[in-house]
Amino acid sequence: MNIITFGTFDVFHVGHIHILERAAGLGSKLIVGVSSDQLNYKKKGRTPVYCEKDRLKIISSLSCVDEVFVEESLELKAQYIKDYEIDILVMGDDWEGKFDHFSEFCQVIYFPRTPSISTTEIIEVVKAIE
Ligand code: CTP
Repeated sequence: MNIITFGTFDVFHVGHIHILERAAGLGSKLIVGVSSDQLNYKKKGRTPVYCEKDRLKIISSLSCVDEVFVEESLELKAQYIKDYEIDILVMGDDWEGKFDHFSEFCQVIYFPRTPSISTTEIIEVVKAIE
């Protein structure tokens, strides 16, 4: 079974590893689409702290991840799902319902987010340190 998930994974944290490990547990191969710097700017209105090359390096170093690629455009998701012959798409439940239309190509599963942690919060905490 081939599994795919997408995300920015900037300032890598425990919520990221939880979802990646859970996704990997569903099949034999986990493929991760890491948002390009430009795509992240479009989605979140900020340039990531870690550039896409470094974020890719971090994600590809994880033992639960088999393959990574740069997600250049939100519109290409269906294509990635077909190209990588994906059986299951996994996302955190902050995306609940938003990926349901991909169920014509593969199963879509939303996992609960790890509470009380996000890249945005970490950035805010670090900024507040005097
Ligand atoms: N995620 C999660 N639990 C968290 C944070 C993220 O399960 N506490 C999941 C998201 O639901 C997504 C993936 O990790 O499926 C990548 O999320 P990303 O947007 O890169 O991380 P966030 O910490 O949510 O980033 P931001 O605060 O910039 O939105």
